[in-house]
Amino acid sequence: MRSYGTELAMYEVTLEPSGKNMVVKEGQTLLDAAIRNGIQIPYGCRHGSCSACKAQVLEGDYQLMDRVSDYSLMSFEREEGYILACSTVAESDMVIEIEEEEADTPFFPVYDFQADVVENVACAADIHKIIIKLSDPSEINYAAGQFFEFDIPNLEDTRAYSMANPFAMNGIIEFHVRRIKNGIGSAYMCNLAPGDKVSGSGPYGRMQLRNRNKDMLFVAGGSGMAPIKALIEELYSEPYEGNAYFFFRSPYS
Ligand SMILES: Cc1cc2nc3c(=O)[nH]c(=O)nc-3n(C[C@H](O)[C@H](O)[C@H](O)COP(=O)(O)OP(=O)(O)OC[C@H]3O[C@@H](n4cnc5c(N)ncnc54)[C@H](O)[C@@H]3O)c2cc1C
Ligand code: FES
Repeated sequence: MRSYGTELAMYEVTLEPSGKNMVVKEGQTLLDAAIRNGIQIPYGCRHGSCSACKAQVLEGDYQLMDRVSDYSLMSFEREEGYILACSTVAESDMVIEIEEEEADTPFFPVYDFQADVVENVACAADIHKIIIKLSDPSEINYAAGQFFEFDIPNLEDTRAYSMANPFAMNGIIEFHVRRIKNGIGSAYMCNLAPGDKVSGSGPYGRMQLRNRNKDMLFVAGGSGMAPIKALIEELYSEPYEGNAYFFFRSPYS
């Protein structure tokens, strides 16, 4: 462990079998540290639901967050030292065993961002198109299909929203947010007004165009259209010889 006076403690976490090391801040999740160090480990939801980031602790102390349900990580797995990297914080130096992924897509560094809301339009009964302009940094490169995490006032947890447009060199980013009944994050997002400030981090996610030489099949419903719109716009931003099909299910049908 490294400690700097009253500053946050820093722990060294070793990933096996690769032997890579990363420094994890007190309170930072293992997944967040890996992503910010450019280490590609599997993940999906980043909130302890999908189990994609499962790993086994070989040495060290840690805290698994309450948000991990018995379904995402069963009790016998917990007893065997399994964790979900997205929902585990280190409490000492650690050694964990986790599969690392082949880097078959470009890696885009994760930034903490501040942005101004430019537009918020209700496009359907409960879906809002929200456009933000990054202020700090003024641009963040990302791949179509990825998502940002937004800070939500009075919530410790963030909420993920997918970019609905491919990267453009002006820091303008579009999101489609569905208002969920009793949903805190979606209510905050859907109530934003032009000029409001928002913050968060990103980009995250491994959904990206991989092979442009194949036909493509896209399937989505409701606001799930957002990353698909970005992918299709990205696909046709260059000559594309194949066929692309998009099956969309409206939540109102
Ligand atoms: C990778 C990723 C990308 C995402 N991209 C988008 C996006 O582009 N647009 C978008 O609108 N959302 C997106 N989401 C979902 C978003 O992050 C939030 O989960 C969603 O807005 C609900 O948050 P909330 O705080 O409003 O609801 P919460 O306060 O978390 O939940 C309130 C209640 O609603 C239920 N609930 C939560 N989500 C749903 C749902 N979808 N349908 C029905 N009931 C629900 C909960 O179980 C709970 O009972 C994405 C999620 C992930 C993991
Ligand atoms: S990324 Fe989904 S559970 Fe960790």
